[in-house]
Amino acid sequence: MLPAGVYFYASNTAYSFMLTPGRNRGTLAQETLMSSNGSLHRPSVDRPTFLMCPPTLYDVNYVINPWMAGNVKRSSRERAASQWNQLHGALEKVAEVRLVDPQPGSPDMVFTANAGLVFAGTVALSSFFHAERQGEEPHFRDWFQQSGFTVHDVPRVTPFEGEGDALFEADGSRLWAGHGLRSGETSHGQLNRMWGVEVLSLRLVDPRFYHLDTCFCPLAQGEAMYYPAAFDDASRRRIEMHFSPSKRIVVGEADALKFACNAVNVGRTILVNAISAQLSGELRARGYEVIEVDLTEFLKAGGAAKCLVLRLSEMDVTHGA
Ligand code: ARG
Repeated sequence: MLPAGVYFYASNTAYSFMLTPGRNRGTLAQETLMSSNGSLHRPSVDRPTFLMCPPTLYDVNYVINPWMAGNVKRSSRERAASQWNQLHGALEKVAEVRLVDPQPGSPDMVFTANAGLVFAGTVALSSFFHAERQGEEPHFRDWFQQSGFTVHDVPRVTPFEGEGDALFEADGSRLWAGHGLRSGETSHGQLNRMWGVEVLSLRLVDPRFYHLDTCFCPLAQGEAMYYPAAFDDASRRRIEMHFSPSKRIVVGEADALKFACNAVNVGRTILVNAISAQLSGELRARGYEVIEVDLTEFLKAGGAAKCLVLRLSEMDVTHGA
């Protein structure tokens, strides 16, 4: 269902959409209030809320990114559990954490950031690029439906890997979306049409940084942490046009390889894998509390803090605005 409005569309540029005033708000509010069984249900919450999946069935069983090569069957479930528990415990101090049950045959399900993208009580459900992860889709669908979200399917022909490749600016005004390695660029137009938000496309060019959330992280006070070499020139320029020099936090390769950009940000709190003292110092100097959690077992599959967590609350609620 498309709200009335005016669209324009151009390859590798910003998508923009003019709303008929008030129209899409009403539409979304109605959808938000009706769960699948017709009862009143409100998926939006009034506290920062995230989704995680316990790592009881986590494993590196196949290779779909360069981090997994050489790590098949080399992760420890015990260590993974203790690292995940630390992240979960730290997140629970600043947010509500909901859990989805892990499923046999889906060892990457622990990376809930790839389940979909949540906005205005609706989830754009992922359509995974690799067959290895497509089995996760029905489980995430069930979870969202049972939790009262409106589920929007992204068609199979359009790969889309959820919040792994699509990140809202802190005030929810713009969506930065990655393509080139996992999600397809056509998914960006679909997100634009679905929600009426401005979508800014970024092309990823380094297979080590195959999801946008591995190399780009918008922060609560309007900054962006990013690893410039992960993007093509035009995309790097797009980032630099939108974020003034004082709002840019350039991450060097060593920190990028520690998944420094793969950070969970809730208001003034940042949860991240162990990073350099220089980068954590810069974040602290900007007023953030940086909580570092060792996530080495998950790096073996190509993920860290942000990949293990999916935002469920709206942006203003998430950052306590
Ligand atoms: N092994 C998983 C994959 O390649 C890791 C996903 C990491 N998730 C993320 N949001 N970056 O799909």
